[in-house]
Amino acid sequence: MTIKKRLIISFTLMIAIIIFIAGVLFFQGKVQRYYLRQSVENYSLMAAAREIQYYLEKSASAFDFYLILGDTSEKSRFLDYAKGLKQKTDDYLKQLSARGGSADSSGGKNFKASGKEYADFTEIENLVDTVISKWKNILTLYDKGSKEKAISQVDENIMPYLTKLKNKINEIYISKSEAFNSAEKQSISLEKANFFISVGLSVIAIVLASILSLILFRSITQPLSRLKEGAEKIGAGNFNYEINLSGYNELTALAQSFNKMAKNLQKSETQIIQMDRMASLGQLAGGIAHELNNPLTGVLGQSQIMLEKLSTTDPLRETLGKITKAAERCRKITKGLLDFSRQKDYHFELTDIAKIIDASLDICSSDIVASKITVIKNYGKNIPKINVSVAHIQQVFLNIITNAIHTMKNGGILTITTQRESALPSAFISVSFKDTGDGISKENLEKIFTPFFTTKDPGKGTGLGLAISYGIVQRHGGNISVSSQGEKKGAIFTLRLPV
Ligand SMILES: Nc1ncnc2c1ncn2[C@@H]1O[C@H](COP(=O)(O)OP(=O)(O)OP(=O)(O)O)[C@@H](O)[C@H]1O
Ligand SMILES: [Mg+2]
Repeated sequence: MTIKKRLIISFTLMIAIIIFIAGVLFFQGKVQRYYLRQSVENYSLMAAAREIQYYLEKSASAFDFYLILGDTSEKSRFLDYAKGLKQKTDDYLKQLSARGGSADSSGGKNFKASGKEYADFTEIENLVDTVISKWKNILTLYDKGSKEKAISQVDENIMPYLTKLKNKINEIYISKSEAFNSAEKQSISLEKANFFISVGLSVIAIVLASILSLILFRSITQPLSRLKEGAEKIGAGNFNYEINLSGYNELTALAQSFNKMAKNLQKSETQIIQMDRMASLGQLAGGIAHELNNPLTGVLGQSQIMLEKLSTTDPLRETLGKITKAAERCRKITKGLLDFSRQKDYHFELTDIAKIIDASLDICSSDIVASKITVIKNYGKNIPKINVSVAHIQQVFLNIITNAIHTMKNGGILTITTQRESALPSAFISVSFKDTGDGISKENLEKIFTPFFTTKDPGKGTGLGLAISYGIVQRHGGNISVSSQGEKKGAIFTLRLPV
């Protein structure tokens, strides 16, 4: 899994944990608020019952005192309290209605007054109305002078209603105080539970976050330290060292780049050794070629003179002809050796590389047709002109094309591709020649640029073509490489020339 994905998953998990904890705390708070509100509602009904009871008792005692003492101040106290009693009862019933209370309301979670509460307070109001109207009747009787009759009616007419009213108020008070107590208890126990749940969840969140961070940290630092170790080994020159990281992520991709870099460094090292070898060989070959050139010129010159002197029928003419041919072949070889060692007459100019390829193909066109070879040109677009010595680069292309023709005697396809490569430290133009010929064995691949290496029949090839090409490309600051999947599978020669 990529590091980016790991980071995203870790953060998402942490956010999910935080949201979960916040959700649990929010839910807990909601439940606790519910019980708190329930206790408040019950408490307010308890208080209402108490207040109605207070006004009822005050009215009853003022009424009794008035009847016994005939004190008019007691009468007015009675009237005030009775008025207060009626007022309070009406107020509470209105409050219940305002809370949505009705004969069939369900009460419940949204704190609507329940049907029972509404019915209880309606009953209280009816009883209060009855008691007050009965009190007032007795009062009228009393004030008209029938004092004894009035007093005797108190027990008979009012007591049963008064007792019923008191009982009802008491019943409401008890039930509401029980409800209040249980809601309060719930609220307290919930508060305790909330505390433990909050602490517990916070601990779990901290532990989970620590584990996640640790996993993430280790999954990054372990491969990093292996990368460091590998880089140090490669830096110390151990190019065969391979950094092996499992899985696929940014760090394994980096490890692969390191491995690739090590391989390229190894290749470059081999190339440097090859260049060194070529330079010494070039010096040696140049020396020998120079020494051989003068006597060979002598041999050729003398043979020429002798041929002119001999009559056309002389049997020695044939022998002399063989000497001349052999000497010419030796001259070809020494010329090649001198080209290889001297690398002379370079004239660099900005040139379109495709034009040089086309010119080289033109020169070989008759051989290409004769060998039934199809040429496919894959020239890249926007390839800039580059600084090359045209004659020399053409010599390289001719040599590669001639080799390709030679390997595809019975027909084949030659694909020529040019493209711009943005490799560090600078850009290159690559030109590749891919044939469908005999291919090159693994062991020959290593020797192919060595002077005099040839697989052609004796006398047919000098084995200098690729060695000379190698030198020319080096002189241009580029490189030439070959790859082949093996015998009968064709070969690819690739030139890289700096832009
Ligand atoms: N396209 C190719 N396919 C297979 N083998 C190749 C190819 N090009 C070169 N070779 C091999 O590399 C050898 C060396 O090639 P090089 O051009 O240096 O010399 P040559 O072609 O043998 O001789 P000369 O170039 O003097 O004719 C060849 O003999 C051949 O074995
Ligand atoms: Mg050749």
